[in-house]
Amino acid sequence: MEQTTRGNWGSQMGFILAAAGSAIGLGNIWRYPYITGQNGGAAFVLLYLACVLVIALPVLIAELALGRRTTMNPVGAFQALTTSKYWPFVGYLGVITGVGILSFYLVVAGWTLGYIVKELSGTIGSFGDFVQDPISEIGYFAAFLGLTVFVVLGGVEKGIERWSKFLMPALLILLLCLIGYNLTLEGASKGIEFYLNPDFSKINGSTFLAALGQAFFSLSLGMGTMITYGSYLPKKENIPVGAVAVALSDTAIAFLAGLMIFPALFSVGLEPSQGPALVFNVLPSVFATMPGGQFIGIAFFILLAIAALTSTVSLLEVPVAFLVDQKKWSRKKAVWIISGATFLLGLPSALAQGTSDFFSTLTLFGQTGFLDIMSFVFSDLSLPIGGFFIAIFVGWVWGARHASEEILLGTPPAFSRLMAGWGFLIRFVCPAMILLVLIAKLFS
Ligand code: PFF
Repeated sequence: MEQTTRGNWGSQMGFILAAAGSAIGLGNIWRYPYITGQNGGAAFVLLYLACVLVIALPVLIAELALGRRTTMNPVGAFQALTTSKYWPFVGYLGVITGVGILSFYLVVAGWTLGYIVKELSGTIGSFGDFVQDPISEIGYFAAFLGLTVFVVLGGVEKGIERWSKFLMPALLILLLCLIGYNLTLEGASKGIEFYLNPDFSKINGSTFLAALGQAFFSLSLGMGTMITYGSYLPKKENIPVGAVAVALSDTAIAFLAGLMIFPALFSVGLEPSQGPALVFNVLPSVFATMPGGQFIGIAFFILLAIAALTSTVSLLEVPVAFLVDQKKWSRKKAVWIISGATFLLGLPSALAQGTSDFFSTLTLFGQTGFLDIMSFVFSDLSLPIGGFFIAIFVGWVWGARHASEEILLGTPPAFSRLMAGWGFLIRFVCPAMILLVLIAKLFS
């Protein structure tokens, strides 16, 4: 059997935890709140939920099926199912996107390390001052890259997975406690109003793409991460159930992060549209008002750093698996070369919060600052474009019927009735909606 040469997840639960580990990260707790804040709040949240349900979930199932069927990395997966020399470019796009996302993601992950140190020392200071110092910006960024390399090369991935079984529920509990506390703050109700009472006049062409891009980013879709995860999935496991479990837990964590942030934000009187600094500005000032806030702050940033680590590991895996499988590089060489490239590409993002005038004020595609531009290009453009081609490939080239056969392995007979719905979504709805949203952005 093809499966014997490739490692497998120990169980359905092991797979769900690993995929959820990739999905749940800074995207939920750092990116989702600030993108929601920039896009006007509750109406955006509704759009986001619709994107997850109607577009992202079907694509997640498609990626997992593609991976399990071919037991390949994203480039090899396309090569295995078609002789066309063009389709593997979707895989190449995924490899490049992995490096692009990793480069700015590590900068923000570095901030979480910086905030662990700040909370430990008891002097928080302002985020603006923190990100002005190039030595610490680059230092923390490099440290998080080092941590990621250590996990990927050090053979401790299994260990991290085992830990995250306990740490992710801990993060959830901490979120719930913080929501409970923040709701009691003065002015919290204005935050609830902003987050949960939709004002549809705030929606425009850009809002749709922001919601779609965030859905893909948060679920690690559109660049082949989930193809790779699917390639380790045994035939006896139930893909739809796994996909729903991953999407539900990821969406729940993001939704709760919003519920934690916005009441606090309005109570301390900050701007919801301030961008990437949002979480780092709001939370420490709330921790400072809490009894035992320093310990809560330390615990929060440690858990956030670990959630980020399980995502950076999955981001690094895509280009590394490509070089090892397709180009026959040694794993060590692949990891070091990709890390070196990621470091160079990440430097401008690390300097883009005021250290370098040029990178901080650079404006492109309506985004100001190198980090914001990278986040837009790789999350909002590259991932949905990758998702578009994956949907077309699975729906039309491999074919929804063949894909359904793969998906139905490991499911009880009743699931076959759901496949027509999935086929319709992946063939028509996903590609058409993604295209429409991209076009809407052009005219916004
Ligand atoms: N899903 C991760 C998060 O929300 O933090 C980020 C991510 C990981 C995006 C892996 C894409 C990916 F392939």
